[in-house]
Amino acid sequence: MTVREEIEQLKKEKNAVILAHYYVRPEVQELADYIGDSFYLSKAAVGLEERTIVFCGVSFMGESAKILNPEKTVLMPDAAADCAMAHMADAETIRQMRERYKDLAVVCYINSTAELKRHSDVCVTSANAVNIVRALPNRNIFFIPDRHLAHYVAGQVPEKNFVYNDGFCPIHAQISIDEIRRAKEAHPQAMVLVHPECPDAVVAMADYTGSTSGIISFAEKSSADEFIICTEIGVKYELAKRCPGKRFYFTETEPVCQDMKSITPEKILHVLKTGENEVVLDEGLRTGSKRPLERMLALG
Ligand code: 13P
Ligand code: SF4
Repeated sequence: MTVREEIEQLKKEKNAVILAHYYVRPEVQELADYIGDSFYLSKAAVGLEERTIVFCGVSFMGESAKILNPEKTVLMPDAAADCAMAHMADAETIRQMRERYKDLAVVCYINSTAELKRHSDVCVTSANAVNIVRALPNRNIFFIPDRHLAHYVAGQVPEKNFVYNDGFCPIHAQISIDEIRRAKEAHPQAMVLVHPECPDAVVAMADYTGSTSGIISFAEKSSADEFIICTEIGVKYELAKRCPGKRFYFTETEPVCQDMKSITPEKILHVLKTGENEVVLDEGLRTGSKRPLERMLALG
């Protein structure tokens, strides 16, 4: 039996379903029952019939699935796959900001630990952050952990006062305007599609800014047929699938999230066989971090 056949058989035996983010390897995306951006995956994780979720993504994604579905078994193919940015904020600074600004909403990007979510008022993803922040009654917004996404949202919601945190995604932060300029020189007709985790100067060059799903559907619907894509290279697989005949270029220094790439079909097979790498959360932490995630699902 091939690895794929073994996975399919075990999925039936264990009543399991595979969720995957667009940044994982193509051979992992091929195995997924549900594939999408962080917002789509958090919604998809709720109300699944299967007892076991194999989450092909980084740890905050598996954690969020477990927080929202405590009765399910959530398995991570690689327990070490983590998002560096998810740890780039702290509870003490949140406490200080709450003291300084009485009318403060702590808005937590879903790329964060459960502990950070627990101290926050609402979660957001790159797909819904603008709408959710706009809908909040609070004028003062402490946006954690990503300073780049915070700047992007602040630009879209000028009526709010933003307090910035110093987190960032190391992969999107390295996308350089010089490399985009060079790609534009080589492909002058190409539209520039940018993820809002990129630095402000990159966002300023964008013809469109949005989440991974937003980028993919923009390219699909656009009448243009060449695009410079400023996000992690994994989206190439879905772009090629949905947009046959269109051309996609990335910066010379290809943006690669090694944590996402650490997930392989063999590791999926292993956790399905053994039940290893189950997400386990302390009940207090789980219920505390559930509230801002549920508020996101209600508002988003
Ligand atoms: P999306 O929510 O746009 O899929 O982004 C998730 C992520 O990790 C971006 O780096
Ligand atoms: Fe985290 Fe960046 Fe990897 Fe996304 S690409 S999971 S934000 S490190």
